[in-house]
Amino acid sequence: MDDAAELARAKERGWREISRINEDYAAGRIDQAGWHDAVLALIEPAYLGGDNPRAQSGHSGDAARWRRARALLVDALPVGGGTFLDVGCANGHLMDTLTGWAADAGIAIEPFGIDISAKLAQLARDQHPAWADRIWTANAAAWSPPRRFDIVRTGLDYVPAPRRPDYLAHLLANILAPGGRLVVGVFNEESDQEILEQQVSALGYRIAGRTRAVHPHPALSYKAFWIDSDDASS
Ligand SMILES: C[S@@+](CC[C@H](N)C(=O)[O-])C[C@H]1O[C@@H](n2cnc3c(N)ncnc32)[C@H](O)[C@@H]1O
Repeated sequence: MDDAAELARAKERGWREISRINEDYAAGRIDQAGWHDAVLALIEPAYLGGDNPRAQSGHSGDAARWRRARALLVDALPVGGGTFLDVGCANGHLMDTLTGWAADAGIAIEPFGIDISAKLAQLARDQHPAWADRIWTANAAAWSPPRRFDIVRTGLDYVPAPRRPDYLAHLLANILAPGGRLVVGVFNEESDQEILEQQVSALGYRIAGRTRAVHPHPALSYKAFWIDSDDASS
């Protein structure tokens, strides 16, 4: 594997398959529903076949690495905490662990989850029965939530790249509570570039804050950034 391929693999598992799905979408061979179906066909069996809670959330490391890769999200939480929606909750492991790390930092969050995969959402309910009525199955890009949330966390790779502007606008207008915070991440990105953040800034959003942590690949960092709805536009 050459250096570029190794970097791409470290940034995103299944990157070759995801690239092919994105090419099919760009060429008009599949529509948005087809894009979601193809991505789900890739990740759902892999997550469901995972033999530990991290693998069932798409992470290949041990518990210590999960913490290094995800605990930076505590930096993104407002000190007052509040309701926290994990968009793409998979088996609910981030809902669970982030709630504990936040509590250790003196921040109380109430976790909620949504996943486009009915099977993964059911796994989350099975593993966290106390939260069963807080975990929904839906495509976040077209979801009318039964309530709003103080903090909404998402990845931007949950929709085809050309749909990201509409997706962000939908999360901010229809899912986030007034005065709430939209958190993007954790994603893997080159340490010396702010590619995703600049794309979101270019849409006219003001980035209210950012955080990062050391990634096992020397060229990459784990990153997250956030937009506060009160001053979302720059
Ligand atoms: C990498 S896992 C994230 C697990 C965990 N939330 C985390 O941050 O580590 C991504 C999850 O997002 C879900 N997902 C992808 N697109 C989605 C969409 N449009 N709406 C809701 N969930 C989506 C996938 O089914 C998958 O379970």
